[in-house]
This record gives sequence, C-alpha cells and structure tokens, in this order.
Amino acid sequence: MSQPASSTSPTPPHPHTAPGSTTPGLPEPPALPGWEHLSSGKVRDIYAPAAGGPWAGRDVLLVVASDRISAYDHVLPTPIPDKGRVLTALSAWWLDRLAGIVPHHLVSLDVPAPVAGRAMICTRLDMHPVECVARGYLTGSGLAEYREHRTVCGLPLPEGLDEASRLPEPLFTPAAKAELGEHDENITYRRVEDMVGPAIAAQLRGITLELYSRAARIASRRGIILADTKFELGTDPEGRLTLGDEVLTPDSSRFWPAPAWQPGRPTPSFDKQYVRDWLASPASGWDRTGDQAPPPLPDDVVERTRERYLEAYRLLTGSALEL
Ligand SMILES: Nc1ncnc2c1ncn2[C@@H]1O[C@H](COP(=O)(O)OP(=O)(O)O)[C@@H](O)[C@H]1O
Ligand SMILES: [Mg+2]
Repeated sequence: MSQPASSTSPTPPHPHTAPGSTTPGLPEPPALPGWEHLSSGKVRDIYAPAAGGPWAGRDVLLVVASDRISAYDHVLPTPIPDKGRVLTALSAWWLDRLAGIVPHHLVSLDVPAPVAGRAMICTRLDMHPVECVARGYLTGSGLAEYREHRTVCGLPLPEGLDEASRLPEPLFTPAAKAELGEHDENITYRRVEDMVGPAIAAQLRGITLELYSRAARIASRRGIILADTKFELGTDPEGRLTLGDEVLTPDSSRFWPAPAWQPGRPTPSFDKQYVRDWLASPASGWDRTGDQAPPPLPDDVVERTRERYLEAYRLLTGSALEL
C-alpha cells in the first residue's frame, strides 16, 4: 500500500489512547523512527506518527503486537516467541474476509523494519467503551451467569444448558472493559444503550452478530468451532462506525477443534490452556488469589503454547505462518 503525503496538521490527542496510560511494569516499547510511543495495553504498544515521519499529520496509529501473554488478568513475565506475529497476521487475514459488513481500521502492513510482521498501521478510532462479545456456545463467564440466574447478560435462556452447550441462537453479550488486574464485567444491552446511546448500541449488536456468523461459518469449514469472540469498534475521523483492535485471534476468541467438542465437558481451545494449567498447578508455586506477580514460565510451557498459536493460524488459514 502507498505511503501518504506528509502534511503538517496536528493530530489531536486521543481520549482512549492518551499518553501516560501505559500499564506500569511493562517492558520498554521499542523506539521506532517516524513514530512516537503513545500507550501500551496488556499486549499491544500503540504509536502515533512523529513530526517529520512518513505518516506525520495523518489520523493513523501504529499498533504493535508484542509477544506478551496475559492470564488470570496478569501480564506474565515470560513472552511467547512469535505470538505477536500470529495475532497480527491472523487479524489481517480475518479483516479481509469480513469486508463488506463494516469498515475496518487496517490501512497498511508496510511498517518499520524492527516490527515487521507484528504491526499494523490503522485508522485512529475513538473506541466505544464496550467489548462487543458474541457467543454461540455457553462457557466461561456466560456459563457462570447462566448457572446462577438462567441468563447471560440479562438475556433469559432455556433450562437444561450446560458447559459447552450450543446456544439456541448466537447472542450479543457485551462487557465493560476492566482495568488491568480486574475481570471484564458482563453488562446488559440496556447498559450499552446508556453508555453509547440506543442507535449505536443497535449497530454494535447487529454488526457483532453478523461478524460472528460469517466468521463461525468460515471456521467451521476448517473443522473449528468459534465458541465466542470479542470485537471492539470505534468511530473514525469521518464519523463512521469502524471495526478496530485485533480480530478473531486466540486471545480474543475461543476456537474449539470440532472433534473435541462434547457438551457437558470443557473443550480445550487454541489458546493459553497450558499456561493457565501450569499457573494453577502446584509446580508454579503461585497463589493467584494473592497479590504476588506470576512467576516466569518454564520452557516447555512456552514452547507448547507457541505451537498452539501457530497451529491455530495454520488450521484457520490453511497454511503455516511464514516466520
Ligand atoms: N484503531 C484504533 N484506534 C484507537 N485505539 C485502538 C485501535 N485499535 C485498537 N485500539 C485500542 O488499542 C489497545 C490495544 O492494546 P491491548 O494490548 O490489546 O490493550 P488491552 O490491554 O486494553 O486489551 C486497546 O485499548 C484498544 O481498544
Ligand atoms: Mg486487547
């Protein structure tokens, strides 16, 4: 994709990625010529165009996926090599396949050499503060709420559902984004309407369910169940509702190998299961209810987790990621 002509118009500060919002304790983000570091999330480092750089004055951000991994609401001290490449390549692959439902934020994959393969130049969005989750199957926080109230995000569900049950139809089950170390909180559709207004809420729900249906169909052709997934949407500088963030990666989704699915039993997904299992085991010596930071991961847990991410990419796209 072509490089933009540079202009001198200043870029206004972004309300949700303002400088200074970086989580303490994260590693120093790489210095990138032409870009200035703006903020860092659990996994991604966000940069804005620097004066004099090739994208100066443009309403774009450089979104760099690090190899950081989070589990139990903590960023772990040990990275998973190539994870950032998998997340970036898989998001780009999906965005291509979801075109036509909603505009998306990916502008270019032609990024500075030190972050090649793990970064995207994206339209800068004003993000809606809602995690747009779609669920086709019952598990995790959805199952917990169902067991207590027979609802998910306040939506009533029939009796008799269990772990990994297929839902009668896919549901929009929004969540409010939590601070680091806190759980995202499932919220009702009514809460979403209060947060973003009824018109945007209806669009978020409709788009989320359409994206889910298309993605679930594509995944099922590769023998993978898309149990649930989370999208983030925002408004672009022209006021258009736009799909942002990562899309349909193992970090934002539960992908289940279809042959392993059995209602009533947890299904292992292509994600952090080895990491979670090890952290929860006596071998880690870690008490996740305490306030201690998690310990470094052993090499075999790192390697098996890396394999899971690469395998998810290979199965979904049909070819191995070139590293
Ligand atoms: N196009 C975009 N414009 C502005 N912010 C974005 C865009 N795409 C993603 N984001 C934000 O960038 C951050 C991505 O970093 P990440 O490490 O995933 O953060 P988090 O810990 O909040 O999940 C998120 O806060 C996400 O909302
Ligand atoms: Mg994120």
